[in-house]
Amino acid sequence: MNILLTGAAGQLGSELLPLLSEWGEVTATDRSEPADLKNNWLKADISDGGEPENLLNRLRPGLIVNTAAYTAVDQAESEPQTSFDINADFPGRLAAWAKKNNARLIHYSTDYVFDGNAARPYVETDTPDPLNVYGDSKLAGERAIAESGCEHVILRTSWVYSSHGKNFVLTMLDLARRGLSLKVVDDQTGCPTSARNLAQASISVIREWQASGAGGRTGVFHYCDDSTLSWHDFARAIFSFSVSAGLLEKEPELAPVSGLEFPQPATRPNWSVLDTSKIANVFNIRPASFSGSLQAVIREVRARGLK
Ligand SMILES: NC(=O)c1ccc[n+]([C@@H]2O[C@H](COP(=O)([O-])OP(=O)(O)OC[C@H]3O[C@@H](n4cnc5c(N)ncnc54)[C@H](OP(=O)(O)O)[C@@H]3O)[C@@H](O)[C@H]2O)c1
Repeated sequence: MNILLTGAAGQLGSELLPLLSEWGEVTATDRSEPADLKNNWLKADISDGGEPENLLNRLRPGLIVNTAAYTAVDQAESEPQTSFDINADFPGRLAAWAKKNNARLIHYSTDYVFDGNAARPYVETDTPDPLNVYGDSKLAGERAIAESGCEHVILRTSWVYSSHGKNFVLTMLDLARRGLSLKVVDDQTGCPTSARNLAQASISVIREWQASGAGGRTGVFHYCDDSTLSWHDFARAIFSFSVSAGLLEKEPELAPVSGLEFPQPATRPNWSVLDTSKIANVFNIRPASFSGSLQAVIREVRARGLK
C-alpha cells in the first residue's frame, strides 16, 4: 500500500514516520526537510496554492495520514486565511480525492473545537463551539472531511508534546534552565498527550481497518492520555520528573496564575477534557499513562541534552 504522510517533520508526523513504514511505502512531506533524510521525502508548502491532487494522482496512496496543520494558536488570530487554508481547505481536498479514489484518511483535530463550558469530559456528539480561529479552522476541516463521504478517522486530541518541536514541555524546560521564576495558568484544564501515544493510537486504527474493514469505524474519535491536569499541574510534573531524571538541578519557583492575568491573543477553553470511551469501545484503544509518557520524553531530552 502507498501511504502519504503530511506534516512529517512535526511532533506527531515524526513519531508516525518510522511506524508507518511497517505498513507500506511511505512518502513523507513537509515544508522543511530533515538533515538525516531516510524516506521518500517531498518538500512542499501546502499554503502556496499548489495542487495536492497532482501529488495524489502521482502517488495514488491507499492511505493518507494528514498531520500537517497550522498549530500556532495565537498567531492564527491574525492569520485566519492561512489557518483555514491549511486546517480546513487542504484536508477537504485530501478527503475529496480519497472519496473519489477509495483511499482512507486519518486526520487530527483538537479539544479547542469546544468552548470549555461542559461539566464533564466532552464526548464526540457534544456540540462544538470554538473560542478561537484555530478551533474554528480545525472544525471546518472536520466538517469538510465528513461531507466528502470518504472513509476516515479524525482523532481529536489535546495538549500534544514530544521531545522535539514546539510544545509546553520544552518551553517550560527552557524557562527553568534560564533560572526564571514562573507563573503558570491553573484555571485551564485538559489532558496532556504524548505525540508517540497518539502515533501508536493511529497505528491501532490502521491495524483494525486492515483486519476488519472500515465499515462502521469511520468518524470522529477522541484520544488523549490518562490524566486531567491544569497547565500549572503539568508544569509541576515536568519539573519534578526532570529533577528526578537529573535533567534539572532543582525545581524553579512556580506560582499559579489565572488565565485572565495572562492575556493571550487567542481565548482558550477553561475545560477541554476529552472522553475516550468511544475509541476504547470501537478500536480497543485505551489512554496511555501520562506519568510514564512524560518521564519517557524527559529521558529523551536528557539523552539529547537540554539546549
Ligand atoms: N500540538 C498540540 O498541542 C495539538 C493539540 C490538539 C490537536 N493537535 C493536532 O494534532 C495534529 C498534529 O499536531 P502537531 O503537534 O504534530 O503539530 P506540529 O508539530 O505543528 O506539526 C505540523 C507540521 O505541519 C507543518 N506545516 C505547517 N504549515 C505547513 C505548510 N504550509 N506546508 C507544509 N507543512 C506545513 C509544520 O511545519 P512548521 O513547523 O514549519 O510550521 C509541522 O511540521 C494537528 O492536526 C494538530 O492540529 C495538536
